Amino acid sequence: MFITLEGPEGGGKSEGARWLGAWLVGHGYPVTLTREPGGTVLGERLRDVVLAAETPPSPLAALLLFSASRAELVQSVIRPALDAGHLVICDRYVDSTLAYQGFGDGLPLDELRAVNHLATGGLAPDVTFLLDVPAEVGLKRRADGGEWNGMDARNLAFHRRVREGFLTLAREDPPRWRVIDASITRDHVRDALIAGLPAGIGVAGNGEARPTRDG
Ligand code: TYD
Repeated sequence: MFITLEGPEGGGKSEGARWLGAWLVGHGYPVTLTREPGGTVLGERLRDVVLAAETPPSPLAALLLFSASRAELVQSVIRPALDAGHLVICDRYVDSTLAYQGFGDGLPLDELRAVNHLATGGLAPDVTFLLDVPAEVGLKRRADGGEWNGMDARNLAFHRRVREGFLTLAREDPPRWRVIDASITRDHVRDALIAGLPAGIGVAGNGEARPTRDG
């Protein structure tokens, strides 16, 4: 089972991914938790190049750097973990490329899909959570939290396109996506993550409804 978390800045994806991973481990599942860009030695170096560079890369160069990080991650972490029977949770994946480089920067979506396919060998998530938050709210959270990267510095119109992009992607493929309103509370996000798990995961052995976030 391959689960991804996606969304604009400041939606709490990284925290949500860590929390969901811990919850699943607590319920007996073998879990591999990883992130993009990054998750491998090469990927973490590329992450610095693309997000911390004084002069941000052009959209096309960024696409190829994110994709290089992804190719490495899929081959050396995600596929082996899935083969070993792990539940894999990835903080951002191919949909971030469509939202940021596509809807945000205007690169053609069909070409991005081809690059995504090349980088992943066609490995698609089974479930994708969209932690949705308005651009203004997310950016303010990021600034208040002291975390800031090259993408955050882009203008509000860019981040609005990214958010709308994610919502469009989710509308186009409802069986895969679970849209969560991440502007409410942390507990709301946590409950929605558990509720959105695929059938059979996290369900009590006696067939009763899933335990709550506290149990
Ligand atoms: P990160 O600090 O991980 O942001 P967040 O905590 O919001 O996930 O930085 C990742 C940034 O990289 C984020 O701004 C989105 C961007 N990105 C792309 O533009 N394209 C991609 O394919 C990926 C994976 C990330």
